[in-house]
Amino acid sequence: MVKTIKNRGLGVFILLCLVCVFGCKQDLKQEVIEEEVNATGYFIEHYRSQFHFTPEEKWMNDPNGLVYKDSLYHLFYQYYPDSTIWGPMHWGHAVSRDMMDWKHKPVALFPDEHGFIFSGSAVVDYENTSGFGTDDNPAMVAIFTYHDAESEIAGNNNFQTQGIAYSLDNGDNWVKYQANPVIENAGFKDFRDPKVFWNKKEQNWSMLLVAGDHLQIWKSDNLKEWYKVSEFGKDKGTHGGVWECPDLFPLKIEGTEEVKWVLLISINPGAPNGGSGTQYFIGDFDGSTFTTDQEESKWIDLGRDNYAGVTYNGTPNNERVFIGWMSNWDYASDTPTEKWRGSMTVPRTLTLQKVGRDVSLFNYPLKSFEKHVALAYPESLIEILPTRKRIIPLKYSNQSKIQFTLKSPNVQVYFKNKNGDSLSIDLNRNKKLVTFDRRKSGKVDFNEKFSKGVQQMNISDLTDDPIEIVMLLDHSSIELFINGGQYVMTNQIFPTEFFRSISIVNTSEVELKIDDFTEHKVERVWD
Ligand code: FRU
Repeated sequence: MVKTIKNRGLGVFILLCLVCVFGCKQDLKQEVIEEEVNATGYFIEHYRSQFHFTPEEKWMNDPNGLVYKDSLYHLFYQYYPDSTIWGPMHWGHAVSRDMMDWKHKPVALFPDEHGFIFSGSAVVDYENTSGFGTDDNPAMVAIFTYHDAESEIAGNNNFQTQGIAYSLDNGDNWVKYQANPVIENAGFKDFRDPKVFWNKKEQNWSMLLVAGDHLQIWKSDNLKEWYKVSEFGKDKGTHGGVWECPDLFPLKIEGTEEVKWVLLISINPGAPNGGSGTQYFIGDFDGSTFTTDQEESKWIDLGRDNYAGVTYNGTPNNERVFIGWMSNWDYASDTPTEKWRGSMTVPRTLTLQKVGRDVSLFNYPLKSFEKHVALAYPESLIEILPTRKRIIPLKYSNQSKIQFTLKSPNVQVYFKNKNGDSLSIDLNRNKKLVTFDRRKSGKVDFNEKFSKGVQQMNISDLTDDPIEIVMLLDHSSIELFINGGQYVMTNQIFPTEFFRSISIVNTSEVELKIDDFTEHKVERVWD
């Protein structure tokens, strides 16, 4: 976007010169055409997402410092500006008014003598507890992990510490706190990803930190001095890998007045379909300690590509908005994009909903996503006999929202293109299973962990009947939402050309009935 504006500026300048020197209408026309070509040439590389956030170039992983201030949503992110492979981490930065239409900003935080800048969070210090700002101009404070790579290589186990920095101009310029680090490491090899939020009950700051196999909760009055108050999780949840990127927030159970707290913990490896994934716990937080009686592991997304997701601090109306990194450490460094690597999920609203006697965390594209959904091509009621299929052409070149209502038990859909790529999603209510198969979906051979194996998601608690299916297809991803986000699968895909059709196959013994099948175009957000 920045580049487009620059190009436009240069275009206008050249145009004026030409008009002055030649005063010739023909030249003017030529310039206008060239300017248009430049404007539309931005962000259209092969596989470039058109409605998901990606950096202009180079490597990106986790979302960091999600915070709302003065009508702007800030997205900071793990960024390496020198390569498309992970390296010394910085915080990249972007801003948006609706979390869809982003403007890239200069790099916010650079590594320093304490190390690389790993993941963390940001708050607005409205009460000026830190003294970094003033009452009129509260500071934005970033809290992050320092990763000292030299100390790690030297064989130490205290190379991750926590640091802070502040900005008085809405994230454009940052000052690192001179007494960093604010939390030293007592000997945990993995000790990182601070999430800080204002603790209303205690009127102070809470920090969540992960230490290998568990969560620690710390407190502070001023964001500078911290003390530990509790631990959670050594004997809870899944432990197939290291715990990372925690988050904790209250949500009202829809349709009731009851409030529960939700704890998000990313884990790598150890996700049900392999590699990186995000588990959640529903419980209570008394201001110091998180407790839960949840026995089984629950996952926010059963696809392969939604990791390190966290939620915004300070959103209007307490809406809980989540953004995840749309990749998996199993193959993140090998995906076949050239100029950049890494993309974020569509921002999602989180809600707690009753499912039978249990409560589940639903995640679904936020309302402002709908503003970018344009033209629609609805089909009338689709009825297909057992073992038969119907082929429906796709019109929007891998940039669409496809939705339908399934009124019979099972359905399998295939996305297909002229090169023979094929992506299959099989929803089988008899087996209580969704099977997602991207093994032949295009370019897959860049990493065995990507090209092998199908993904499965148990759907035994499906609430509604008929069920609503929504699929968001962008140039290198597909996000599947079942029943308003009760079950979700997010996956990267790299088809060699656009999917031209979707085949709908009846895999049950009764007639298949689908209502309201619609393919909508989703507008590109980079103009
Ligand atoms: C999660 C993570 C974090 C860490 C960051 C480093 O993907 O491993 O735990 O802070 O990435 O880039």
